[in-house]
Amino acid sequence: IERTFSILKPDATRRNLTGAVNALIEKAGLRIVAQKRIRLSREQAETFYGVHKERPFFGELVEQMTAAPVVVQVLEGENAIAHYREVMGATNPANAAPGTIRKEFALNVGENTVHGSDAPETAVVEIAQFFSGNEIVG
Ligand code: GTP
Ligand code: MG
Repeated sequence: IERTFSILKPDATRRNLTGAVNALIEKAGLRIVAQKRIRLSREQAETFYGVHKERPFFGELVEQMTAAPVVVQVLEGENAIAHYREVMGATNPANAAPGTIRKEFALNVGENTVHGSDAPETAVVEIAQFFSGNEIVG
């Protein structure tokens, strides 16, 4: 069993879509084992997306991630990291497959509704940025 880190982004909370998105996550067989609604500080967003610091869209990305609350979550399941990325769909919703979260809900590549870890190493780091061990209940 594997764990991955999930964010329901500001475009999801703003449009009152957190339940609809989590319905797709749970329908796919992923279990939400930790969850909280928070407002990311600029520093938290910059740390979280630090790998994209030099990219031209970094400033816009940080603005978007701090513009409204997010819901941070830990998901658990068989092959959870790759499985959740399939459920999310392509980064740009224009390229996302039918039935995926981003196809159904994303507005554009920046406001793309969800985040999911891309590898076991990043999942561990991302989960630890937001949750202590006793906040994760499988
Ligand atoms: P995350 O799960 O959020 O990490 O998405 P990803 O792994 O599918 O994509 P990636 O890590 O390459 O990019 C991180 C985030 O940066 C994306 O989810 C987008 O929200 C944002 N992003 C990527 N490309 C662009 C872009 O061209 N413009 C803007 N505004 N945002 C972008
Ligand atoms: Mg990524």
